[in-house]
Amino acid sequence: MPTPTPAASNNDPKANAAAAAAAAAVVATPAPEEDSSNAPVKSVGGSNKIKVLKPFNTANMKILLLENVNETAVSALRSQGYQVETHAKALQEDELIEKIRDVHCIGLRSKTKITKKVLDAAEKLGVIGCFCIGTNQVDLEYATQKGVAVFNSPFSNSRSVAELVIAEIVLLSRQLGDRNMEMHQGNWQKVSANCYEIRGKTLGIVGYGHIGSQLSVLAESMGMRVLFHDVVPLMPLGTAKQVNSLDELFQNSDFVTLHVPETEETKNMIGEHELNLMKQGSFLINASRGTIVQIPALAKALRSRHLGGAAVDVFPKEPAANGKFFESELIGCPNTLLTPHIGGSTEEAQSMIGAEVSQALIKFINNGTSIGAVNYPEVDLRAIRDEEVNSIRLCYTHLNVPGVLRQITDILADHNVDKQFSDSKGKIAYLMADISNVTPEQIQDIYQRVSQTPTNIITRVLY
Ligand SMILES: NC(=O)c1ccc[n+]([C@@H]2O[C@H](COP(=O)([O-])OP(=O)(O)OC[C@H]3O[C@@H](n4cnc5c(N)ncnc54)[C@H](O)[C@@H]3O)[C@@H](O)[C@H]2O)c1
Repeated sequence: MPTPTPAASNNDPKANAAAAAAAAAVVATPAPEEDSSNAPVKSVGGSNKIKVLKPFNTANMKILLLENVNETAVSALRSQGYQVETHAKALQEDELIEKIRDVHCIGLRSKTKITKKVLDAAEKLGVIGCFCIGTNQVDLEYATQKGVAVFNSPFSNSRSVAELVIAEIVLLSRQLGDRNMEMHQGNWQKVSANCYEIRGKTLGIVGYGHIGSQLSVLAESMGMRVLFHDVVPLMPLGTAKQVNSLDELFQNSDFVTLHVPETEETKNMIGEHELNLMKQGSFLINASRGTIVQIPALAKALRSRHLGGAAVDVFPKEPAANGKFFESELIGCPNTLLTPHIGGSTEEAQSMIGAEVSQALIKFINNGTSIGAVNYPEVDLRAIRDEEVNSIRLCYTHLNVPGVLRQITDILADHNVDKQFSDSKGKIAYLMADISNVTPEQIQDIYQRVSQTPTNIITRVLY
């Protein structure tokens, strides 16, 4: 059910119209002279000195959250005074096109498709929050072309994955998957042969990033010895040891666990050759990406009992919806734990994702900060302080072509530019400049001239 927050009430129709116009323009083309008086000056980050920049009435900022985005995000966005409408489910394209017309920011998970058609209908959209890891559901290229920034949360569930892998190491070592299945079939099989403690065993981690390194610490605390392989030299945590080659890792590990991204190099990385290098009776765990392991080779190694078992959370082809759609050569393999891509699926991870993405959205809307955006040049500036009363922040997203900075320098030549930063990514570039001692007329002039440059995609002025 939608739960819209009431818009700000103001009995003065002129003021209302001005606030609405400014809000409508917040992520597109602001009208700086219209609403500066009601922009509240608050503090962030525990200091009373940092000015929150927003030339709009926050209550006119419309946020649409779909797919049951976590409550942490809903309350963080509402606490800014924004109008937040929430829906439990994804919306189909036609419905979304209607809903998105006057929305400044949309939050979604993996089921909502932000297509070119949807983006064309979204007249005021400036930013998209993907409350998940992936961003394939968004036409990123077109969003970028329209100057719509896209944020996600790639690392909020690292701990959840690491904990699942620890559980799987114990489960595999004790053949718990098979014992559990037998018991559910009324079959009592009390065995200790080939069941082991994990203490003193060697864990080989492929990919020592957010998940791999977290796992390294947990595994050592359970008494395991940790080896890892990564394409970059990394500082080992605890007493873990980086090895020079994958082969060395496979030959020396009792458990091998994969935590690499999907790249040209990692696709089909684990096949017959690598599995044959693994110790007789050792275990393979894959909670990274489905394409990393060649499934027929793994099934063969399990059925021949060369491997003692495997835990697989990700698959080359995964069903798009819940139901009896799963097919794999791994079904029925001995001591093989199969899970439906749930490595990062915990309440804690959802809550962390909610907090991380909502903060990124708030910073982008209020301060222009694009750090963490997947499709935007990452730009940020030191905050403007409360005492800098006549300062503004110019946020200019433009085509990445020669000569743009010269035009902007010309426009700002007579002003005091306190600080400025610019970066580019592919076809677009993003410039942020803080300018002090400007009058309302000058703000209007800067805005008009910058937004009328031929390379303009979006110009915002925050103050
Ligand atoms: N199962 C799930 O639900 C779930 C949840 C979160 C993440 N993941 C997946 O887990 C994987 C790891 O995530 P992360 O957050 O730790 O990523 P990360 O980017 O923090 O770490 C990846 C590490 O792999 C290394 N690496 C890259 N190519 C390599 C190669 N060819 N050989 C060895 N090392 C290589 C990188 O240098 C990096 O240190 C990703 O594929 C991610 O999609 C799965």
